[in-house]
Amino acid sequence: MSRKIESVAVLGGGTMGTGIAGACAQAGHRVLLLDVDMSTAEAAMDRILNGRPPSLEDPEKASLITLGSFTDDLHKIADYDWICEAIIEGVDAKRALFDKFEPLRRDGSVVSTNTSGIPLHSITAGMPERLRSDIAVTHFFNPVQVMKLMELVPDTDTTDDVIDAFAEFCGGTLGKGVVHAKDTVNFIGNRIGCFLLLSGLHKAKAALDDGLSMEEIDALMSGPVGLPKTGLYGLFDLIGLDIMYLVGKNLAVNLPAGDSGHDFTSLPATEQAMYDSGQLGRKTGGGFYKMIKHDDGSRSKEIYDVATGAWRPAVDVELAEAHQDAAGLMFGDDAQGRFVWNLMGGALLYAAGLVPEISNDVVNIDNAMRWGFAWRKGPFQFLDTLGPDRVIAKLEADGQPLPVMLQILKDSGADSFYRVDGGEFLGLDGAYHPMKG
Ligand SMILES: NC(=O)c1ccc[n+]([C@@H]2O[C@H](COP(=O)([O-])OP(=O)(O)OC[C@H]3O[C@@H](n4cnc5c(N)ncnc54)[C@H](O)[C@@H]3O)[C@@H](O)[C@H]2O)c1
Repeated sequence: MSRKIESVAVLGGGTMGTGIAGACAQAGHRVLLLDVDMSTAEAAMDRILNGRPPSLEDPEKASLITLGSFTDDLHKIADYDWICEAIIEGVDAKRALFDKFEPLRRDGSVVSTNTSGIPLHSITAGMPERLRSDIAVTHFFNPVQVMKLMELVPDTDTTDDVIDAFAEFCGGTLGKGVVHAKDTVNFIGNRIGCFLLLSGLHKAKAALDDGLSMEEIDALMSGPVGLPKTGLYGLFDLIGLDIMYLVGKNLAVNLPAGDSGHDFTSLPATEQAMYDSGQLGRKTGGGFYKMIKHDDGSRSKEIYDVATGAWRPAVDVELAEAHQDAAGLMFGDDAQGRFVWNLMGGALLYAAGLVPEISNDVVNIDNAMRWGFAWRKGPFQFLDTLGPDRVIAKLEADGQPLPVMLQILKDSGADSFYRVDGGEFLGLDGAYHPMKG
C-alpha cells in the first residue's frame, strides 16, 4: 500500500503538539488538534498564534486547525491521514490513548508518537497488528518551528511505505532534516549529545584540578570544536539541570550493559547539590551563570564556581591562536588539549562505537548532531578533520581499543569516512557508498 499524508490529527497541544500542528498548518494542511478538554485545546491554539516565536507564521492559516477534546472529538481522527500523538511522556498515558484511538482511525492512516525516551516497543507491546505495522516515532526537536532535525524510528513490524510517507511529509513538506534512527535509548542526537554533556560535568572536574577555569572550559568546548557558543556549562543552563538529571536517570535504566555512558548517568556532587537547591539554569534565574542587573542599569555576568561553591564575576577568556583549531588543540600536550581530547574526543569515539547499534551508517549520525545539536561537523566529519589515522595512532599508543567504525576504517585501508567532497561515505562493509539525495 502506498501512503500519503495530507492531513494531521495532533493529539496533545503542549510544547511539541502546538509546534507540529503549527508547522503542518503553515505548510497548508488540515489539522485536528485535540487535548484533554476544550479549554486546554483553546489555550494551545493561543500559543500557536501568540507564542514566542509563534508556531504558525501566517495567522490566516489558523482556519486550517480544528480544535477538540479527547472526550468529545476523538472519533474525528477517522478523517485524517496522520495520527500524531504528542501527550506527556508516560508509557501508561500513551498506551491508554492508543487503546482509545486505534479502533477509530481509518485503514491506511499512519500513526506516530513523539516520545523522546520511551522505547517504541514498550508503547506498542500487545497492541493490534495494524497499529504495529503503521507506527513510527517522529522525534521532533524543540522548538519545532526552528529545529531542523526529526528522528524517524520504526518499530519491528513497521512497513516501509509508512516510513516513506513520514520521510516524504516531514522532509519534503515540513522541510525537516529526517534522520533514520533505531529504537534504542534516546535515539541518536540525545544519545551522543547527552553523553557529551553528562560526561562533560565529570571530566571537567579533572580539568579544573589541572588549573583550567570554567570559562576556559566553555571557551574550549565551543568555537574551536565547532559547538555552539554556550559551550558546556552554558548549554546546561539553557537545557536545565532538572532535565539533564531526568535524562541521566533514564539512561541509567535503559543504556545497554557495558555502555560507557553508565559512568556518567548521575550528576557530580556539586551539581547534584545545585539540583537539590533548585539552581537549575536560565529558567530559575541562574545555574552555572547568572546576569546581575546593577542600580545604574548596567548588567554583568556571574559564574557559580563549582570548585568553591560561590558566585564570582565571570571572566572573558582569549584562547591561544593554536588552540582555535581542533587538531592543534586536541593533539597538544597541555591542560587545555588534554581536556578537549578527553571530553570531545571521548564523545567522537563514543559515536564511532555506536554503529550499527543506533544507526546503520555514519551519515545519519552526522546529520543528527548537526541538525539537532548545531555541531558544525558531525562526529565522523570531525574525525576526518582530525585525521582518522592520527586518531588511531594515538589510541594505539595509549593502549586503547578502537571503536567499531575506526576499526572498520583501519581494516579496509581507508583514510577517511567521507570522500569525493562528501559524495561518498564509508559503510559498515568497509566500502564507500554514494550519498543518497
Ligand atoms: N519538550 C521537548 O523539548 C520535547 C522534545 C522532543 C520530544 N518531546 C516529547 O514530546 C511529547 C510531548 O512533550 P511536550 O513537551 O509537548 O509536553 P507538554 O507537557 O508541553 O504537553 C503535554 C500534553 O499532554 C496533555 N496531557 C497531560 N496529561 C495527559 C494524559 N494523562 N492523557 C492525555 N494527555 C495528557 C497535556 O494537556 C498537554 O497537551 C513527550 O513524549 C515528550 O517526551 C518533548
